[in-house]
Amino acid sequence: MDGTFNENDLSRVVEADRAHIWHHLSQHKVFETKDPKIIVEGKGIYVWDQHGKEHLDAVSGGVWTVNIGYGRESMGDAVRDAIVKMNFFGGTVGSIPGALFAEKLITKMPGMSRVYYANSGSEANEKAFKMVRQIAHKRYGGKKHKILYRDRDYHGTTIACLSAGGQDERNAQYGPYTPGFVRVPHCLEYRKHEQEGAPDENYGVWAADQIEEIILREGADTVGALCLEPVTAGGGVIEPPQGYWDRVQEICKKYEILLHIDEVVCGVGRTGTWFGYQHYGVKPDMVTMAKGVASGYAAISCLVTSEAVFDLFKDDDSDPMNYFRDISTFGGCTAGPAAAIENMRIIEDEDLLANTTAMGEHFLNNLHGLMEKHAVIGDVRGKGLFCGAELVTDRASKEPMDEKKVQAVVADCMGQGVIIGATNRSLPGKNNTLCFSPALIATKDQLDHLTDAVDQALTRVFG
Ligand SMILES: Cc1ncc(COP(=O)(O)O)c(C=O)c1O
Repeated sequence: MDGTFNENDLSRVVEADRAHIWHHLSQHKVFETKDPKIIVEGKGIYVWDQHGKEHLDAVSGGVWTVNIGYGRESMGDAVRDAIVKMNFFGGTVGSIPGALFAEKLITKMPGMSRVYYANSGSEANEKAFKMVRQIAHKRYGGKKHKILYRDRDYHGTTIACLSAGGQDERNAQYGPYTPGFVRVPHCLEYRKHEQEGAPDENYGVWAADQIEEIILREGADTVGALCLEPVTAGGGVIEPPQGYWDRVQEICKKYEILLHIDEVVCGVGRTGTWFGYQHYGVKPDMVTMAKGVASGYAAISCLVTSEAVFDLFKDDDSDPMNYFRDISTFGGCTAGPAAAIENMRIIEDEDLLANTTAMGEHFLNNLHGLMEKHAVIGDVRGKGLFCGAELVTDRASKEPMDEKKVQAVVADCMGQGVIIGATNRSLPGKNNTLCFSPALIATKDQLDHLTDAVDQALTRVFG
């Protein structure tokens, strides 16, 4: 067959997909009897499938990515202009969009200084892990190499990132894992009854103190970094409780442990500030970001470091090994930073951070309203347009709702033309949180429509 097809008849595309595409995170048996879904077009926060059915996308491309919404012509222009002039050169040299985006990005990140380009969130996190290891070799004879990560957090799909992954069901069957990654407890206050010794008050400080206990158990001289999501995403939309971040920072300082914040989901506006950590007065050493950086119009990720971290890789140029000996081929694509510059301009010009804060509050209120009506909602949480509702069989015992029923809510919404998400196959027995992350352009009417769809789905699934 040639490459042409009739745009009004997508049956050929559906068959080509069925025959040849290996979809992400999917068991394919179902496609023997059911067509795979093809998303054909997007505009604003809406997408259309192969049947022309409209969907309100409350998860920004399924995975918290399209922060500025679909169908932005200026994004297409920015990418086109960049790639026609100079599409790629390996990252040992600079590029015009690369330098200009780095300059702009750093204005949004006081205290940070250097931008290292790559092309996925996992890859950016791997770079950070490699830096920690190299610093350990350079300064501590290799000893201070361990990387702490938190239960329920996720940092990516590669084997090293899964080794830093706090989601046992997602990790399962992919071991053996990379050595040198050590888990610390989660800080989800709603589930503190499952954590031995958790207090009624000052839970945030207690949860951070658990990290110190692990550092002491491992030996502080073996721990190089602590990697945390600012607000845990796929692990259930968890905003760390009051007191947590101050204590975490004290601990990192005390034991000379680098603080690596994974902003792959929260970065570039999702929570109403440029970065999630900026809500909490956190001063990171390393920050990774990906999804919202160019809203999926081009692949780009960044690892941003302080100048102090950067200096460790240039302070002795007589040592032939004393630089970051790492490359990312597609980190040299200009499409990424060109798209990222335009993405940031749109967020600024349309005041989308303010919209995210205002609409996030509105939507959280809506969710609290649903909680009054539906006893299955045990907890509602979120920050900006990044919200979750945890479903339980019983509010007193907080027994997590069966994943199949949670997925039935998601499917019901999909039937109504509203795409929502849920924690899935991540946390054994605890894939019970509905997730909402519409584009930052969302309006009250759209969020009310979303709320209404969830309300109807909960009524149909649970009565
Ligand atoms: C917090 C977090 N970090 C890292 C990643 C990995 O990003 P990518 O899929 O671009 O490799 C994800 C992906 O969902 C994520 O949620």
